[in-house]
Amino acid sequence: MSDNTKNIEVAQEKFAELIKSEFERIERMKQDNEIKDFSKQEKIVIGVLPGDGIGPIIMAQALRVLKTLMKDELESGKVEIREIEGMTIEHRAETLQSLPDEVLAEVKKCDVILKGPMVTPRAGDPWPNLLSANSLLRRNLELFAAVRPIKIPDKNIDWTFFRENIEGEYIWGNKGIQVNDDLAVDFKVQTQQGTERIARAAFDFARKNGKKNVTIVTKANIVKLADGNFIKGVRKVGEEYPDIEIQERLVDAMCAKMLDPEFNKGIEVIVLPNLYGDIVTDVAAEHQGGLGTASSSNIGNKYAMFEAIHGTAPFLISHGRGQYADPCSLIRAVGMLVAHIGYGDRKQILDRALDICTVTERKLVVTTDKDGATAEEFTTYLVDTINGLK
Ligand code: IPM
Ligand code: MN
Repeated sequence: MSDNTKNIEVAQEKFAELIKSEFERIERMKQDNEIKDFSKQEKIVIGVLPGDGIGPIIMAQALRVLKTLMKDELESGKVEIREIEGMTIEHRAETLQSLPDEVLAEVKKCDVILKGPMVTPRAGDPWPNLLSANSLLRRNLELFAAVRPIKIPDKNIDWTFFRENIEGEYIWGNKGIQVNDDLAVDFKVQTQQGTERIARAAFDFARKNGKKNVTIVTKANIVKLADGNFIKGVRKVGEEYPDIEIQERLVDAMCAKMLDPEFNKGIEVIVLPNLYGDIVTDVAAEHQGGLGTASSSNIGNKYAMFEAIHGTAPFLISHGRGQYADPCSLIRAVGMLVAHIGYGDRKQILDRALDICTVTERKLVVTTDKDGATAEEFTTYLVDTINGLK
């Protein structure tokens, strides 16, 4: 048998295995339609994964805010905060498990998770080439919607991104096929079930929040099947929401022209496949004021996880400036978390306090440099402001 024939056979077998696992996942998605109702629970457990780099520093501050907002519920035992150990890059490298089994088991005993940034090793890093812990958490907890709000008031922008959080280029991200030295193939996966559930989340949000428009962002002119079917799937779900208008944008133009009022006309809720969502929300966060200002929720039917969208800031750590990191992104994630478990009133208090501390009053400013306030100093200011509003 020629080398080529052999290579093709091996590639075909691997591909068949991938398809098979995907069929199984689709069956699991069909079963996963019971949505957790927090109001019916006696107790809500918030699991905490501080993460790496600046993670533990900003997490300590985010927890002060969480404890301030939920003081009564923590005292009465209605809400519990549970720190989960072992999710550090050192431990993950040692066990060669990006998401160690015992960590996942603990995570699954909680209802919602507050998560700091975690190292994803890249080629050339001192760490073993572990998978992204983010992707594994999202996949294992079926957190299919990354909900990322972006507000730029002076540009009249108040958008909510619904990024599909499991499929696309991510799901087989480490399962591409190196056919031979010359040929590598990676895959992009789209399922009807995966598309419909993110679409439904976006339309439901739009309806509940008085939004009139859902914009689909893809590269369907090139990626005919995965993106083409994504559009069809979203439009199909959209038929159940006749009051909401649907429009489409291409992802390259979206990145380049999102601030152009002609281009972004009507945009309110944006639904998009995983990788485009990753990129576009970073671009949008930069326009909002930097990655440090943005937070994300990862929502599934059973679990939800709230995090900052930035990384571990190795630059700040290596320059001895870790304590000057901006905790606001993770603090905003706390706001999304408390709203998700049924305390939208606390999120409103936090939003008002953040507005006072970072926009209108600004008695202390975090610059991430030594001339600015430390994360701890800023948070003391914020906590005092919250207590003044409660
Ligand atoms: C994000 C991050 C992650 C992603 C990484 C850390 C795997 O960039 O949450 O946007 O690509 O999804
Ligand atoms: Mn990202």
